Amino acid sequence: MTTILVTGGAGYIGSHAAVELLESGYEIVVIDNLSNSSMESIKRIKEIAGKNFPFYECDLLDVECVENVFNTHKIDSVMHFAGLKAVGESVTIPLKYYQNNITGTINLCEVMIKHNIKKLVFSSSATVYGNPDKVPVEESFSLSATNPYGRTKLMIEYILQDLYFADSSWRIALLRYFNPIGAHESGKIGENPNGIPNNLMPYISQVAIGKMEKLFVFGNDYETHDGTGVRDFIHVVDLVKGHLKALEYLENHEGVEAFNLGTGKGYSVLDLVKTFEDVTSKRIPYKIVERRKGDIGVCYANPQKAEKKLGWRAEKDLNDMCKDTWNWQLNNPNGYRN
Ligand SMILES: NC(=O)c1ccc[n+]([C@@H]2O[C@H](COP(=O)([O-])OP(=O)(O)OC[C@H]3O[C@@H](n4cnc5c(N)ncnc54)[C@H](O)[C@@H]3O)[C@@H](O)[C@H]2O)c1
Repeated sequence: MTTILVTGGAGYIGSHAAVELLESGYEIVVIDNLSNSSMESIKRIKEIAGKNFPFYECDLLDVECVENVFNTHKIDSVMHFAGLKAVGESVTIPLKYYQNNITGTINLCEVMIKHNIKKLVFSSSATVYGNPDKVPVEESFSLSATNPYGRTKLMIEYILQDLYFADSSWRIALLRYFNPIGAHESGKIGENPNGIPNNLMPYISQVAIGKMEKLFVFGNDYETHDGTGVRDFIHVVDLVKGHLKALEYLENHEGVEAFNLGTGKGYSVLDLVKTFEDVTSKRIPYKIVERRKGDIGVCYANPQKAEKKLGWRAEKDLNDMCKDTWNWQLNNPNGYRN
């Protein structure tokens, strides 16, 4: 039986990955410091999959705790989701982001080396493309970052590449996510932001449920069909399926390789609002405000490399993403705090 360590497995994407792994017959061990998540999501993962697994409330900055997990379980590979992810916050408290994301990853890799575990799937982000010159974005494009959060992702990518240069038995997939939204179709797990949501989709669904009065749309003067920003929204369940494909790929491939995980289609903010309104029959009042500093106009993936090499492509459309988000929101108006 193959056992996967899932760091950050109580979080939004990690919890969906945990379900997918369990349903695909893997054993899992989950660690999370619950800084941006709760035990309730661990309970829900077990409910959906109908399986149990060990969970450790463990911080990657606490090496002893991480060591203990590796000493207790025979881990084969690691899916590394744990990290802080709020762009705005990273500008205000950069050192916390560098310490948590970078030191946390270094600690994890050191313990992996000690236990001779060299297979790692890492949550990177399309943010490592900075402000791309053209779309669709390909893995070979130049890399840069526009904020501390993005720089942590970029630095970790370089660190992992250096690891492989130093020891070619490492097998590492750098998965560059575009814009994950949606929720598990059971409505039991989903994105559970603390306070005012940073991301568009949770904001829209909180307006729909009456927790927020209206949506603020940042800029309608971009060079797009309706002037609002265009992004590559991808259903979180499609996204995590890409992780399982990457894991299979690493079984037969040494090296460190980056893959875009996106649909290859760009939709604007207002396209998403309109689809959400159609799917839910709820009206989403919105107000156009100034562009947000650092935002880019258009960004969507060329996902062909993942399709060719991993045999993966996103299947779900914008309707599914809106329907499943709404189902999660309706069932959990206060997130996991019900
Ligand atoms: N959601 C997105 O839009 C998006 C896009 C691109 C990349 N990513 C990356 O994907 C990963 C997962 O994102 P998510 O949306 O599920 O975020 P999330 O905040 O819901 O999940 C991250 C989890 O990691 C945990 N964590 C943070 N620091 C930790 C530490 N030091 N030790 C142990 N646990 C720790 C948090 O408690 C949380 O449960 C992150 O690395 C994020 O940067 C997310």
